[in-house]
Amino acid sequence: MLVTLNVVALVQEDATADQLTEALARVQGIHLGIRHVATGERPRNQLASDEQPDIILLELGGNEAEDLHEVEQILHQTGGRVVVFVICGQSDSFTVRRMLGLGVRRVYARPLEVQGLVLDVIECMSEKRSRVQRARSHKGALTAFVNAKGGSGATTLATNVACTLAARHKHKVALIDLDVQFGAAALGLDLRVGSDITNALFQPERIDPLFLQALMIEHASGLHVLPAPGDLTEVDTIRPGATSALLQAALDLYEVVIVDVPRLFVPWTLEALRMAHPVLLVSQKSLVTIRDTKLLLERLPLNGVPREQIEVVNNRAQSRIASLDIQAMKRTLKLECIHRITNDYATAVAAQDRGVPVDQVNRRSAMTQDIERLAAYLHSSLSGEQVRSPGLWDRLFRRRA
Ligand SMILES: Nc1ncnc2c1ncn2[C@@H]1O[C@H](COP(=O)(O)OP(=O)(O)O)[C@@H](O)[C@H]1O
Ligand SMILES: [Mg+2]
Repeated sequence: MLVTLNVVALVQEDATADQLTEALARVQGIHLGIRHVATGERPRNQLASDEQPDIILLELGGNEAEDLHEVEQILHQTGGRVVVFVICGQSDSFTVRRMLGLGVRRVYARPLEVQGLVLDVIECMSEKRSRVQRARSHKGALTAFVNAKGGSGATTLATNVACTLAARHKHKVALIDLDVQFGAAALGLDLRVGSDITNALFQPERIDPLFLQALMIEHASGLHVLPAPGDLTEVDTIRPGATSALLQAALDLYEVVIVDVPRLFVPWTLEALRMAHPVLLVSQKSLVTIRDTKLLLERLPLNGVPREQIEVVNNRAQSRIASLDIQAMKRTLKLECIHRITNDYATAVAAQDRGVPVDQVNRRSAMTQDIERLAAYLHSSLSGEQVRSPGLWDRLFRRRA
């Protein structure tokens, strides 16, 4: 399996840039971005505040105190999730030890011995491959819904798929509403909110399965919901570590965890997408939405969300011209299969207004049945009856193109 590794090199010397380009360009799957740091400039100024590549290669000037401070700041800014390699001229062994102690993976002396660095980068790639494989082997345990454009139906699908998995497939299911600013999962199920997800996200040190259990609200379907306050909560201070601690605790407690992820691509939301398999990218057939779907399919892998884990859902599909729709969408997005949910606005809105799952409004609606098929797909992935061939799946469930 080919995984892609996003490597950002913050370099000071042209010679280093040339060496890195020469050595890493040959390694398949590596996206290398070289950024030149001017004399006197801080390397971290070249990184966006929410940027999380897989690897940062950081070339430093040799001023011990400044270099240590820079390393510390970059490790802090990236939440400890990024592998940092340092390249520097004349670091003494004390400084090197301090850098390693802070979390730097390795320190290379200049002139750079590129072979060692290439081996280290390849090792990072195989670590990433193992992470992806681990997640793949548990497909369906943690599923994220995220829309490619606001209003595409991510919340509707997350909520209804979660209810179906709990009520029909009898799984122990948690629905986590990560949309802390506009979350509507609890509203859509008419649940009264007491505590909410911010109790966990703002106190990550308190998160464990027991703490999480106390925050969950039970729905009649058997589903447990962790609601969002939906009141424009300040999100800048949420750390990716809080998301992973929360989802890890949820996975300890529940068989199936469904996350409704807002369309906000910052480290703490990307963390949820990185952990999830599959990431269901909810799209619709409009030009702008398809453009954004294509963009996200290209860009999310550069932010650590494995491409292999992203699947597209064509929501609000029109029944009469559906097959034409889906073929065009598949061609544009270069995808072999796309999940398809029929448009039924009357049922969707009535369910939302009444605060009930769609099957309680119209059991026979094509939309309700498509949602049930999507839940069945996750159920089968989870129980290992994974449908390997999209062709077979097509024949079993004709609506999934
Ligand atoms: N398959 C569907 N057919 C018709 N309307 C839908 C469908 N799915 C969602 N909707 C409606 O679209 C609107 C936006 O849905 P929502 O789930 O809130 O989107 P998102 O979470 O992606 O912003 C809601 O009014 C919802 O009832
Ligand atoms: Mg939503």
